[in-house]
Amino acid sequence: MRVIRAKDYNDMCRKAASILCAQVVLKPNSVLGLATGSTPLGVYRQLAEWNALEDVDFSETTTINLDEYVGLTPDDTQSYRYYMDNNFFRYVNILPENTYLPNGLAADKTEECARYDAIIRACNGIDMQLLGIGNNGHIGFNEPGTAFEKGTHCVSLTESTISANSRFFDSEADVPRFAYTMGIRAIVQARHIVVIVSGAGKAEILKDSFTGPVTPQVPASVLQLCSNVILVGDEAALSLLV
Ligand code: GLP
Repeated sequence: MRVIRAKDYNDMCRKAASILCAQVVLKPNSVLGLATGSTPLGVYRQLAEWNALEDVDFSETTTINLDEYVGLTPDDTQSYRYYMDNNFFRYVNILPENTYLPNGLAADKTEECARYDAIIRACNGIDMQLLGIGNNGHIGFNEPGTAFEKGTHCVSLTESTISANSRFFDSEADVPRFAYTMGIRAIVQARHIVVIVSGAGKAEILKDSFTGPVTPQVPASVLQLCSNVILVGDEAALSLLV
C-alpha cells in the first residue's frame, strides 16, 4: 500500500483527482469505480475543472458506482444517481449510457444484484476504484460482518450508518433502511484502489482498518490484503497511522 499525505481536504482531493486523471489519460476507456458520500465531492469538482480545461477526456470512460439506496427514484435528491448526475456527470463529457448505478426501484432485488454483477463482468472489472470509508469501516454499503466473497447484494443498513447518513436527509426517519451495494469481492478485484479519507473523525477507523486484524467486522480491513491500494489522506485522518 502507498500512503499519500495531504495537508488538508482540498489538497487530498487534488492529489486523488490527479491519480484518477492519470488513469484516464493513460487509458481513456478506463472503467472507474465511483463512490458517494461527502469525501469525494472535491475530487469530482477537481476532475470537472480539468475536464473543462480539456486536460482529461471522459468520452470513452465507463463508471460503475458502488451503491444505491433502495426505494429512491433517480430524481430524488438523496439518491446516489442524483448525487452522481449533479456532482459529477453533468459537468464532464462522459456519456450518460456509460454510467452505471444499481437501480433502487428494481422490482426484483435478486435480479437487480445479478444484473449489476453482470455489468461489472461485461466491463471486464474495474480499472480504478475510488473508495471512501464509513465511520464503522464500511466500504460501499458493505456493513460490518459482511462476508468478503459476496457479490452485489441488498443490505439492511446499520443504525450507525443510518445515523451518519441522516445529515443528508430532513430527518433520520427519512433515511432508507436498505441499499444495494457492490460486494467486497468486486472491490478488491479492482486493478487499482484509491482510498480517500479526510478529517480527525476518520482517524480511529483508519487505524483499525489498516493496522488492526483483517476481519469482516471492519470491512475496510480487507484492503490490507490488496497490494494495489493507494491511500490518500489528509493530516487529520492519517494522524493515528504511523
Ligand atoms: C456512505 C457511502 C460510502 C461512503 C461513506 C462515507 O455510506 N455508501 O460509500 O464511503 O458514506 O461517507 P463520507 O465520505 O461522507 O464520510
